[in-house]
Amino acid sequence: MWGGRFAEGPAAVMREINASIPFDKRLWRQDVAGSKAHAAMLGAQGIISPEDAAAILAGLETVAAGYEANGVADDLALEDIHMQTEARLAEAIGPVAGRLHTARSRNDQVATDFRLWVRDAIDETDSALAAFQEALLTRAEEHAASVMPGFTHLQSAQPVTLGHHLMAYYEMIARDRSRFADARARLNLCPLGSAALAGTGFPIDRTMTAAALGFDGPTRNSLDAVSDRDFAIDYLAAAAQCALHLSRLAEEFVLWASQPFGFVSLSDQWSTGSSIMPQKRNPDAAELVRGHSGRIIGCLTALMITMKGLPLAYSKDMQDDKPPVFEASDLLGLSIAAMTGMVSSATFRTDRMRGAAEAGFATATDLADWLVRVANIPFREAHHITGHAVKRAETLGVALDTLSLDDLKSIDARIDERVYDVLGVDASVAGRTSFGGTAPARVRAAIAVAREGRKP
Ligand code: ARG
Repeated sequence: MWGGRFAEGPAAVMREINASIPFDKRLWRQDVAGSKAHAAMLGAQGIISPEDAAAILAGLETVAAGYEANGVADDLALEDIHMQTEARLAEAIGPVAGRLHTARSRNDQVATDFRLWVRDAIDETDSALAAFQEALLTRAEEHAASVMPGFTHLQSAQPVTLGHHLMAYYEMIARDRSRFADARARLNLCPLGSAALAGTGFPIDRTMTAAALGFDGPTRNSLDAVSDRDFAIDYLAAAAQCALHLSRLAEEFVLWASQPFGFVSLSDQWSTGSSIMPQKRNPDAAELVRGHSGRIIGCLTALMITMKGLPLAYSKDMQDDKPPVFEASDLLGLSIAAMTGMVSSATFRTDRMRGAAEAGFATATDLADWLVRVANIPFREAHHITGHAVKRAETLGVALDTLSLDDLKSIDARIDERVYDVLGVDASVAGRTSFGGTAPARVRAAIAVAREGRKP
């Protein structure tokens, strides 16, 4: 491509370190689309003849069909997808192919291709997350009233419902989707026409190419357009946050699937066995979702560090922008699909969850609240009295709601039989009716709001 100035070809290692084709071939659809938009604009503006534009457009179709049928060859001599496409075009239509690169540089080309790719990745992620939310809603609806222990410090704290717990993840994913949507809105301006860095003297129409590629308009500064990758970092940041949410649910599945917890049985499809221990059903997919989140966070870090010291405009370091984005996108896609599958097919062992909620004195706060409400005792004192009741129950090895009235009265004479209305786990969750609380009626209302897609 630049033979005019060079007497010798590159060293083999130079060729290898320079080439991005092994990974940037994933941009081929975007590269062809960008070239088509550019060629059509060059023709419309009279920068190249209408015949040449038509020949180039037809040739690009041929190139795309070839890629579709045979894949993109790892030809290191052709360095990257942009040179590869141009070379294929020349094979298809001859020297007129050389007119395509008028008023264009690989710098604005790659910035455009990559924005298009990230935009598609965001759209795919959004659909996958919508499906995941649907799975969460379905299971939450089924378990709107299934009692489980709610934890703080991983100690039984207060009873909640499984539906409420699953809806917590629904909310996290809703925010993740909005972060991806923000990233999409900001990235949707077209760098094409910024050329190498300074713009071009040819009478191009940047609005036309931007519109043809589905952008809201052209980017406003050519230096910025070819040299920033903040759109990719935005995407990776949203991906990292989303992976982190998935990882927390994955961790809970690992914990819940363990024998001491026994809150969930993963389906056969989402478990693996052991080659030595026949009894094993391991939650490998959940563990890998947890593990992948670390790699996705690493991808974000990698690209931020690549970018942080680069002077304007383009530097070749920026070629390293693509592997972390591709890797994160692949890992996130797998992680979302795996969590969707696990959530959809898991058997929640509601008997075990309820048993754990009952065993952990999780209604102690309800007793304290009752002493405040019914016996008009200050909360701090009520807390103290309740502590005694818990100690008593622990000593006797019984649940709070199976302590006898005599026992309770011996702790505080103001307690009467009405207290049993609040000591059971069902009463406890049913009572938590504040907005956003765990009462089954509230959980069902939250699910209804989510299904209708309206703001609460
Ligand atoms: N393969 C390059 C990349 O991914 C394309 C841009 C190359 N531009 C240049 N001036 N060498 O960044």
